Amino acid sequence: MKVLILGVNGFIGSHLTERILRDTSWEIYGMDLASNKVAEYLDHPRFTFVEGDISISKEWIEYHVKKCDVVLPLVAIATPKIYVTDPLRVFELDFEENLRIIRQCVKYKKRVIFPSTSEVYGMCDDEAFDEETSNLVTGPIPMQRWIYSTSKQLLDRVIWAYGAKEDLRFTLFRPFNWMGPRLDSLNTAKEGSSRLVTQFCWNLFNGEPLNLVDGGHARRCFCDVEDAMDGLMAVLRNEGGKADGRIFNIGNPENDRSVREIAEMMIALWKNHPLRLERGIPEGTMVETHSGTFYGKGYQDVQRRTPSIRRMQETFGFDPKIGIEASLKKAMDFFVDEHKALEKVVETE
Ligand code: UGA
Repeated sequence: MKVLILGVNGFIGSHLTERILRDTSWEIYGMDLASNKVAEYLDHPRFTFVEGDISISKEWIEYHVKKCDVVLPLVAIATPKIYVTDPLRVFELDFEENLRIIRQCVKYKKRVIFPSTSEVYGMCDDEAFDEETSNLVTGPIPMQRWIYSTSKQLLDRVIWAYGAKEDLRFTLFRPFNWMGPRLDSLNTAKEGSSRLVTQFCWNLFNGEPLNLVDGGHARRCFCDVEDAMDGLMAVLRNEGGKADGRIFNIGNPENDRSVREIAEMMIALWKNHPLRLERGIPEGTMVETHSGTFYGKGYQDVQRRTPSIRRMQETFGFDPKIGIEASLKKAMDFFVDEHKALEKVVETE
């Protein structure tokens, strides 16, 4: 099978590349702006990488949509800070650029696996969010945070309609706070625009307090990227066509924690970390921050977000097992190495 991955150097793309090359005989054609996260596979005989921007390299993309069996358009801005500071870029990239690729999948009759998001459920009241029955609840227009959720939601609806009207073969998957190595980069955390775990790693390494936005009461269910990849690979394998025309939440409802609990766990891990002890960096503290100050006035938070994974369990026997502590430790160790590498770059500049 030939797989086209746009955004192959991202968090999901790089982990998926590792899994596909390790566990299957499939070929990957990948495009991204950089290749640092897939550097170790660049010489692999079943991996073809091209450096490019999806809004510019249109011919290469159309040619490869035609050539491949399945398309994963993974390019998107997925960090809440940017939803608020640059909402139009989110719309242009996450919606407009991806719509063009979806239409090519329709034209060439290719299977598409599209990354929807847990954010589409927004402030839904259900205890656990269900793919086919939960309401999608977003906030008022001045709250720009929702531009990401609604851009993704509209594409979900467009894809669904192409499935019904034009026989597009598709699967929508919804990651629920996947975490692990390569989630964001410390450079984005340096600017204060990364997601929670990477942001807290950066703060700890630099002796800065961890910001608990609006008290840190918001809850998320964190899913280790290795468990998430088991789920996504089952979708890709698509045995018996069971993933066709379906939507799947991929997450781990067992790892339900508040932001404050995550901060406490990360501070406890950091306390005995060799890097901290070696350099005498402070143990880590927490400070409460108002969301308007931290993100800007267009931010509105999701207080709780729990996936129902019943459909993944029943369809593929999905069974995420990795606990939050092991997952946080793995991510922290990875970012320690990245931090050291960043320091070397700064020294040589
Ligand atoms: C994320 C992103 O929108 C997407 O990457 C993705 O689609 C989705 O969730 C997902 O992976 O399910 P969110 O969970 O709000 O959204 O992203 P984070 O930036 O990781 O924030 C989580 C919580 O931590 C929020 O309540 C936020 O206010 C809080 N936070 C974040 C802090 O308290 N302090 C910080 O320094 C950073």
